[in-house]
Amino acid sequence: MATETSSEQTNKDSSDNEYVLEVNDLQTYFVSKWGTVKAVDGISFKLKKGETLGIVGESGSGKSVTVTSLMRLVPSPPGHIVGGEVLLEGQDLLKLSDKEMEKVRGDKLAMILQDPMTALNPVFDIEDQVGEALGIHEGLKGNTLKDTVIDMLKKVRIPAADTRMKDYPHQLSGGMRQRVVGAIGISCNPVVLIADEPTTSLDATIQAQYLNLLNELQEETGVGIIFITHDFGVVAKMCDRVAVMYAGKIVEQADVREIFNNPQHPYTQALIASVPKMEENVDRLYAIPGNPPIPNKPTPCQTCGETSPILVKHSEDHLVAKCGIDTECAGWFPRDLD
Ligand SMILES: Nc1ncnc2c1ncn2[C@@H]1O[C@H](COP(=O)(O)OP(=O)(O)O)[C@@H](O)[C@H]1O
Ligand SMILES: [Mg+2]
Repeated sequence: MATETSSEQTNKDSSDNEYVLEVNDLQTYFVSKWGTVKAVDGISFKLKKGETLGIVGESGSGKSVTVTSLMRLVPSPPGHIVGGEVLLEGQDLLKLSDKEMEKVRGDKLAMILQDPMTALNPVFDIEDQVGEALGIHEGLKGNTLKDTVIDMLKKVRIPAADTRMKDYPHQLSGGMRQRVVGAIGISCNPVVLIADEPTTSLDATIQAQYLNLLNELQEETGVGIIFITHDFGVVAKMCDRVAVMYAGKIVEQADVREIFNNPQHPYTQALIASVPKMEENVDRLYAIPGNPPIPNKPTPCQTCGETSPILVKHSEDHLVAKCGIDTECAGWFPRDLD
């Protein structure tokens, strides 16, 4: 039986100590003279220690704005976090001063860039770059700092770490550079690590190495990961839970197996259908027609015209955005078809 839930109920149940991150009704808008874009329009999710939550959706659905909001790095103006809570180990990051937030960033909450070319500074050696975050956040100096840098590089399996750390980024292979970026990401022992996809597509080998690296880092440290991608194909490899984003909202959220075996929302179904299967011919690839609407005005469902979806519990731990509790409509799914 479907029952309506509010973000209050879904996110604030009883003993929540196992959750390292709780996001409640987050709203981030971009305001310009042409109007307001609700890039993130009231989303809620939770993350447990050691768990990976995938945020999946087409380009422009609000994934990057979601994570830059968590980091409080939304460019302002034009962007503003207008409401919600971001509870990291119970502390609301949206209530911290800029100075307090600086201490959290790169410390308890870290972000890792997938593209090893742009993530490292070409003019500093590896020791300096891994050491920088440790110096700032952990106050390490001298030999202690140096030994910790070596430990970090060993953790990400860089061979001969004590000599390799004198190298500059261009002296390392792509895979090794990525490992250095991973070392920086976990250097301060973050509780939550955010991994956003790169804006340009990467070489398949580099991408595969990156996914392995993230899995290794998590095994090593028990860090909770928020994994952002537009590609449902990599979700199965990486994620424990999945939140599907569409036009600034989460339209479906469930355990990864449940999402693949029992997708309820028509958009999730279309995304899963568009993942190429090994045995399939590439020209049979299914693409979803049209584009998601830009949420700068009310976004009516293409089937029934409803503009305000509600999150309905399909089953325990499985939420779907519907156009009403007892509606015939399969799910709130606005789409620009021209
Ligand atoms: N700097 C910006 N200025 C204005 N609007 C922005 C800006 N960044 C993002 N947006 C708006 O937010 C929407 C979501 O962007 P984003 O989160 O980057 O999408 P994605 O899911 O591809 O990561 C964009 O379609 C755009 O309308
Ligand atoms: Mg993005």
